[in-house]
Amino acid sequence: MSRYLTGAFAPLKREHTEHALSVEGRLPSGLDGLFTQIGPAPAGQPRRAFDGSYPWFMQDGLVCGVRLRDGRAAWFRNRWIRSRRVARALGETPAPGPRHFPIDTVNTNLIAHHGVLLALVESGCLPVQLSETLESIRYTDLNGQLPRGFAAHPKVDPATGELHALAYSPLRRWAEHVVVAADGHVNLAGRVDLGGRPLLHDIGLTDRSVVFFDLPVRFDVRRAAAHAFPYRWHGRHRSRIGLLPRAGGPVRWLAIEPCFVYHIVGAEEAPDGGLTVHALRYASLFDDGTDPLARPATLWEWHAEPGADYAVARPLDDLPHELPRTDPRRECRPRRLHYGITHDSSREQSGLLRFDRRSGRGEVRQLGPGVLAGEAVFVPRAPDGAESDGWLLYFRTDLAAGVTALVVLDAADLTGAPVATVRLPVRVPIGAHSSWIRSDEWKAMA
Ligand SMILES: [Fe+2]
Repeated sequence: MSRYLTGAFAPLKREHTEHALSVEGRLPSGLDGLFTQIGPAPAGQPRRAFDGSYPWFMQDGLVCGVRLRDGRAAWFRNRWIRSRRVARALGETPAPGPRHFPIDTVNTNLIAHHGVLLALVESGCLPVQLSETLESIRYTDLNGQLPRGFAAHPKVDPATGELHALAYSPLRRWAEHVVVAADGHVNLAGRVDLGGRPLLHDIGLTDRSVVFFDLPVRFDVRRAAAHAFPYRWHGRHRSRIGLLPRAGGPVRWLAIEPCFVYHIVGAEEAPDGGLTVHALRYASLFDDGTDPLARPATLWEWHAEPGADYAVARPLDDLPHELPRTDPRRECRPRRLHYGITHDSSREQSGLLRFDRRSGRGEVRQLGPGVLAGEAVFVPRAPDGAESDGWLLYFRTDLAAGVTALVVLDAADLTGAPVATVRLPVRVPIGAHSSWIRSDEWKAMA
C-alpha cells in the first residue's frame, strides 16, 4: 500500500462536525477567524494510475477547519470539495458552476479575497467558493471574469489589496497574468510565453513585479495518458527566473542553473533594477521515480545585478524544510523572518523552523518522535507592529495516539509553552497548505 494511504496520510472515512472543543491554555480573543488545512485525501476509492501507483497530488480535495471566536474554539469541520468525483463517491450532486478543465479536483490552497472564500488548485481548473462553514457553494469564474482557470499561490499586496496570479495549464504554452482588484474586478494583464508547459506553483510579488521560476519540471503527455502525476524532469530545458511588470509588459528573463522550486519565500527589487529572490530549492525533482516528498529542499538566494540577464545562486542554510510562511503585512517588502516545517523521516518527526535572515540562523522547535506538523501560519497580533509580533498556528498530529490538535504559539517564543492547544475530534491527515482567514475577510460573502 502507498505510504500516502496510511499513518499520517490515511484518509478520513466521513465528514465530522463538532462544536465547543476543549482548549488547554487561553485562546487569544484577537484570534477571530478560521484556521484551515486543505490537501489531497480521497473521499472514496483513490485515484490510481494505470500502473497501480497512487498520485497523492491528484486526489480529492479535503478541507479541515477550526473556527476561533471570543477566546473559544467554536467548531471543527472537515469537508470534501464537491467535485464530480467526490459527489459520485458521496452519492450527491456536484457543486454547480463552470470548470474550464477536464479534471475538477481542487486540493491545494485556501484564500479569502474581496470577501470571498476560495479553494484553489493550479494547472487549469477554476476555484471553488466555500461558505464560512466550508461547504462547496460553486465553482467560480469570478462572475465571468476568469476565462482560463486560476492559480494555487496568488499573492496579495497588503497596501492595495490587489491580488496577482499566474494561471497556467498543460493545455497552453503560456501563462496568464491575472490581477484581481480589492473589489473583485479582474484585469487580464497579459500573457507570458513559456515556450513549453512547466509546473509553475508559486510566485513572488514585489512593489513592481511578479517574480517566478521557469524550471525543468514540465508536463509529460505520456505520464498524463497513463493517469500518473503528469510532470517530470526534462534535463534539456533552460532554467530561468522571470520578472513580469505588475502593470503588464514584456518579461525580463534571468538565466539560472537548473533546479526545482515549489515555494518562494520572498523577492526584493532594488530601485536600480537589482533583484534578490529567496526560495526553497531542490537540486532536482521528479527525475528518477523516487518519492518526491523524500527529497529535502533548502534555503537559497538568487541575485541579479541591475541590467544583468542572469542570476547567481548561493545556499543560505543547510537545514531542509518546506512550506515557508512570512508576515502577510510585509508582502512586497523586505522581510527578515520566515517560518517552515522540518521533517526527520527516520523518526517521523516534524520541527517548526523560524529563520532569521539578519543572523543567518534558524531556530527549531522539535515536536518529538512520531509527532508531525502541518503548515505553520504566522498570524499578526495587530494590523501593524513588529515582524515577530503575532502567533504561529499549526495542526500537530501524534501518530501513536491518532489525534490532532490545533496549537497556538507566541511567534516570538518559538520553543516556549503553547499559548493554547485545541483538541480536535479526529486526526487531520497530512495535507498541502494551511491558512488563517480573519472573520472580517469573508464579511462581504454572497
Ligand atoms: Fe504550495
